[in-house]
Amino acid sequence: MISRQEEMLQTMNFRHACKQFDPLRTITDEDFLTILEAARLSPTSFGFEPWKLIVLRDATIKQLLDPVAWGARNSLHGASHFVIVLARKSVDLQPDSAYLTNLMRDVHRLPEEAIEGRRQFYRNFLEHDFQLEDERAHFDWACKQTYIVLANMMTTAAYLGIDSCPIEGFSQAEVDRVLVDEGLIDPEHFGVSVMAGFGYRAKDPVRAKVRQSLDDLVIWF
Ligand SMILES: Cc1cc2nc3c(=O)[nH]c(=O)nc-3n(C[C@H](O)[C@H](O)[C@H](O)COP(=O)(O)O)c2cc1C
Repeated sequence: MISRQEEMLQTMNFRHACKQFDPLRTITDEDFLTILEAARLSPTSFGFEPWKLIVLRDATIKQLLDPVAWGARNSLHGASHFVIVLARKSVDLQPDSAYLTNLMRDVHRLPEEAIEGRRQFYRNFLEHDFQLEDERAHFDWACKQTYIVLANMMTTAAYLGIDSCPIEGFSQAEVDRVLVDEGLIDPEHFGVSVMAGFGYRAKDPVRAKVRQSLDDLVIWF
């Protein structure tokens, strides 16, 4: 029996950026749904969930992404599951947007006065605390939150003995163009943030994990 601490660190050490997936092994539906559930349960600022996932199975679209996503090739062609993480654009993240109104009213079931209070508080956060007034900064704020979703999916996968590769090696504009052309996203509302492949390693990583020491990374004060 290993301790919970050991089990957690084994999970974190098992996870590596898998460079070569075994194309013959498929993740079970039960395991993949658990990974998706970890995404769904991820925290977001104000609880606004400014993200969506595409689980890409279509071989034609994978071929279209290949030339514009150099960091994704191993995953596109070998991983059991390929995920594109989208972030919401500024129009959906305005305090009085239809998206946030629906979320607060119909998902969180907040009373009208609470919704108004949150809107005001959030408006102040946007204008003063984080100064997220231009569209790009607002989109990037949503993108930052998708990395929590990504991390939770990768850690959950590792806990289940499933490998993954996080992917930023692509042209955001070109990937968006493919997704728009193929009718997968409305560019007014969504843009690509990050991607990930999930599956099983074809072979163990060549190098052991290399990291700076905790002394170099943590300040205790
Ligand atoms: C945000 C992010 C983007 C990354 N993009 C790519 C990528 O496009 N292609 C790739 O093969 N690896 C990618 N990586 C993997 C990193 O190179 C890898 O995580 C890092 O070298 C540490 O190695 P490890 O994950 O095996 O411990 C990315 C990692 C992160 C966190």
